[in-house]
Amino acid sequence: MSVEALYQQMKAKLSNVVPDFELRYKAELAYEINRLKKERNAVILGHNYMEPALFYSIPDFTGDSLELSRKAARTDKDIIVFCGVRFMAETAKILNPQKTVLLPAEKAGCSLAASITAADVRKLKERFPGVPVVTYVNTYADVKAESDVCCTSSNAAAVVDSLGVDTVIFIPDEYLARNVARDTGKHIIFPTIISKPGDASDIKTDFQLIGWHGRCEVHEKFTVEDIANVREQFPDVVILTHPECSPEVVAASDFSGGTAAMIRYVEQISAPHYLLLTECAMGDNVAAANPDKEMLRLCSVRCPHMNQITLEDTLNALKYNRYVIEVPEEILVKAARSVERMIAIG
Ligand code: 13P
Ligand code: SF4
Repeated sequence: MSVEALYQQMKAKLSNVVPDFELRYKAELAYEINRLKKERNAVILGHNYMEPALFYSIPDFTGDSLELSRKAARTDKDIIVFCGVRFMAETAKILNPQKTVLLPAEKAGCSLAASITAADVRKLKERFPGVPVVTYVNTYADVKAESDVCCTSSNAAAVVDSLGVDTVIFIPDEYLARNVARDTGKHIIFPTIISKPGDASDIKTDFQLIGWHGRCEVHEKFTVEDIANVREQFPDVVILTHPECSPEVVAASDFSGGTAAMIRYVEQISAPHYLLLTECAMGDNVAAANPDKEMLRLCSVRCPHMNQITLEDTLNALKYNRYVIEVPEEILVKAARSVERMIAIG
């Protein structure tokens, strides 16, 4: 496809979302990326939070973290370029270690992944011996390696239920844990004082979910007042929340689900207005895919990590083979068990 044809394709999708002069410039970058992608036998995976011009031009596959993990596991290309954040690229490496995995921006992290260390998990396991550890994929490989099974926002309750046990350690997202506790009918606690190994005597005994105080720096910012204000101005609005939002915010919304579930919901439901309480770029992507639907945006809150992934950096990733994701062998083998166990559950 020529640069002009790619520009026309992007314009057809994005003329209501991205200014034309920006599309022209970005079509040239995207053209060069697609040419190099072919030359280097690479696949590009794009998370739903990628900015619209990137989202609609270079990824071979787009999706939520679970869908992209599956694509990473199955690809036969030599190189996986992950347009997402580091924990996602690490998960791709864990699932397909023979491949070169590139993350276009070296420092694209995640506040949840930064909230817990492998040593923290070991202490929790000492404190609650024999209790299985369910770990959100928004964590680094060494934390996954200490876990029994991973989950994403789309399968968290199913993963907890699949264990068939009374008590589960669920880390590190406090709000996701509270939302899962509600969905699975479990009582949750957040142990803050780690005392003697195996000694849980100083805390209540009727808990069933043991959480951690990690938060997504984006979703924690949405409030019940934001929802009330928007509903006052747009009484018919349908509000969708990611389960990394607080349970109060989730309860005040009309639907809660992972990024792919939110996209499907907007496609299926007919409403005068929609508001997605999640990273703002996804609102643009959904607006572009549904030109007949009216999307409202609350864009004052952005993910500074997802926003680091640009077309320029993706081009440089393919040109200079950077930034290569490495996971030490002993961690990779253990982490693979918990990620593959999640994939098998669904
Ligand atoms: P999803 O798994 O829903 O794609 O979410 C990933 C994420 O980082 C949400 O903030
Ligand atoms: Fe992490 Fe939140 Fe950014 Fe998702 S939106 S990558 S959970 S900081």
